[in-house]
Amino acid sequence: MKFFIDTGNLAQIKEANDLGILDGVTTNPTLMAKEGIKGEEAIAQHYKAICELVDGDISAEVLSVDFDSMVAEGKKLAAIHPNIVVKVPMIKDGVKAIKWFTDNGIRTNCTLIFSAGQAILAAKAGATYVSPFIGRIDDSGWDGMELIGQIRHIFDVQNFKTEILAASIRNALHIIKAAELGADVCTCPLSSILGLLKHPLTDIGLAQFVEDAKKM
Ligand code: E4P
Repeated sequence: MKFFIDTGNLAQIKEANDLGILDGVTTNPTLMAKEGIKGEEAIAQHYKAICELVDGDISAEVLSVDFDSMVAEGKKLAAIHPNIVVKVPMIKDGVKAIKWFTDNGIRTNCTLIFSAGQAILAAKAGATYVSPFIGRIDDSGWDGMELIGQIRHIFDVQNFKTEILAASIRNALHIIKAAELGADVCTCPLSSILGLLKHPLTDIGLAQFVEDAKKM
């Protein structure tokens, strides 16, 4: 399973990348706005900086919601760096745009996936990735992981090549479950990635080893 970090924060991207386990980055308008990135030029510069930090797929989301504008925006985003993957929302015009990008050699990440039907449509349009939002499904009282399992089953049975990118990750257990269910990628906040490191018995064991090392 590939590991992406889900943030627009350069310091966090660098910290995750320094671990040596990072395969890419996802962003969205909320995460970019949080970093104070405003205006077309600043947005392009920020994506460029991310691409220079991480050698992997970098999702850059279109801000418009109609076909023509999404295509125009996506073309500009894709021109920033070969690693840019254009992130497109799961709406009717979004499906059309994904098909257009696919036919024109531009890779896409279909975002805001909340059902298997949406994932099938995105895969049919040729999306490189589909992003089911696990945490937001859990937040609304459904089981986000069930959706990962269902999409995995469908994509395997139908031989869809689209990769399943588990998104809206809230904790380390989400990452473990997504791995268990065969997600191709997990995009996570830095806190969830670091959460995988933690176990109290590791801390207790290490404290003992450090103590005993003094006697050697
Ligand atoms: C996916 O690419 C999105 O950026 C992200 O995972 C959304 O997560 P949230 O539900 O924590 O906002």
